[in-house]
Amino acid sequence: MKFISISEAMKKGSGKVAVHGWIYRERGSNEFKFIILRDSTDIIQCILKKQKFEKQWDEIDKLQIEASVEIHGTIKKDKRAPTGYEIDADEIKIIGTSAEFPIQKDLNEELLGDRRHLWLRSRKMTAIMKIRSTVIGALHEYFRGKGFYEFQSPVIIPGGAEEGPTLFEINYFGRKMYLTQTWQLYAEAAMYSLEKIYCIAPSFRAEKSKTSRHLTEYWHTEMEVAWADLDELMDYAEEMTKHVIKKVLERNKKELEILGRDIKKLEPSLKKKFPRITYDEILQILKTKKRINIPWGKDLRTIEEEKIMELYDTPVLVHHYPKEIMAFYKPRDPKNPKTARCFDMLAPEGNGELIGGSERDTNINELKKSLRAKGEKPEDYSYYFDIHSYGAIPHGGYGLGTERLIKWICGLDTIKDAIAFPRTVTRWKP
Ligand code: 4AD
Ligand code: MG
Repeated sequence: MKFISISEAMKKGSGKVAVHGWIYRERGSNEFKFIILRDSTDIIQCILKKQKFEKQWDEIDKLQIEASVEIHGTIKKDKRAPTGYEIDADEIKIIGTSAEFPIQKDLNEELLGDRRHLWLRSRKMTAIMKIRSTVIGALHEYFRGKGFYEFQSPVIIPGGAEEGPTLFEINYFGRKMYLTQTWQLYAEAAMYSLEKIYCIAPSFRAEKSKTSRHLTEYWHTEMEVAWADLDELMDYAEEMTKHVIKKVLERNKKELEILGRDIKKLEPSLKKKFPRITYDEILQILKTKKRINIPWGKDLRTIEEEKIMELYDTPVLVHHYPKEIMAFYKPRDPKNPKTARCFDMLAPEGNGELIGGSERDTNINELKKSLRAKGEKPEDYSYYFDIHSYGAIPHGGYGLGTERLIKWICGLDTIKDAIAFPRTVTRWKP
């Protein structure tokens, strides 16, 4: 008989079936052994009656959690079973035995982290990884559907782009090189050829902060578009986010339920337009509604972002931050020269900044001035100036922290669970 998945078996609902998988839970008596079998699709209760398995009983009795087995039997509805069906087994074949599985219920986060390679089998991690797969697939769909080309940049780079202190240094044949924080500067070169490009790839930040939203290696979803202005970039950011949420709600209701995620918290983001608010307005709102006074020109800290987001149930696009505190490539707004033509998209429910983006400065003198003001050497960026020396055009793009979006969609406490093998300042193995 051909093996089918557990969810296919439950769809069939009656008659003979053959399934294979791992033991998720087991309990026994003198007469019976109950096995909850899991595969990648679901779990199902199987009952093995001793009278049918006299010869194999010793072996069956010793089966432990995570042993792999093949089971042939008859499936039927059973209200008492965890997923509503039970297989009455006729045959069992033990494929791989299992030592005592080193994960029981009450392990703390640290131990679960150490045993991550095994914890991935949990229902929680399986559900998250399925949603993650939907998210990444939906991002590809979104950009390709809009006529974007996928473009890759090097991971090993000669210099920085965002902030120097968070660059990881590597020894490149005796020369100091770095791990990339963003594909952006290379993307801008390719933009002059392909016009609309995107990429989903790892970025690296030597972040010492131990927050629930910082990884040192994260999957950065970035895009760059020719001729685009700030409003268009914010349109893309909003539409892309809505597209991803829609696909997760379509494809992963079951997984969201396993995670206990209240999907009512996501629904407003599908229905409503995301508010667009300037930095200046944010300072006003903080002052009047939250009694927090921020002097103009200071960046918003996590705590202030959280206070603001208490007032919204969808992401908010905050634009026109002070020029001086922004990365060198974010252009001054001629209509309001103290500010830059840039935006951040903040997420509700304490999830902080999801996206950072901007138009790009093509004025080489301005770029050099900004670099010098940040203590950088303009010589290190000569290729970047070169890019914009031949037919410069208005353009821009943004970067999304893919794990931050997954964390928000899944309602996770920590970003570490949004990726299979997290890397943070205190977690680098397995
Ligand atoms: O705001 P950032 O630093 O922007 C850039 O890197 C631009 N060059 C992107 C672009 O325009 N192409 O990073 C973009 C996003 C942030 O909004 C955040 O969501 C995520 O990347 N991010 C992190 N995610 C997890 N862990 C970290 N340590 C992160 N640092 C940034
Ligand atoms: Mg940012």
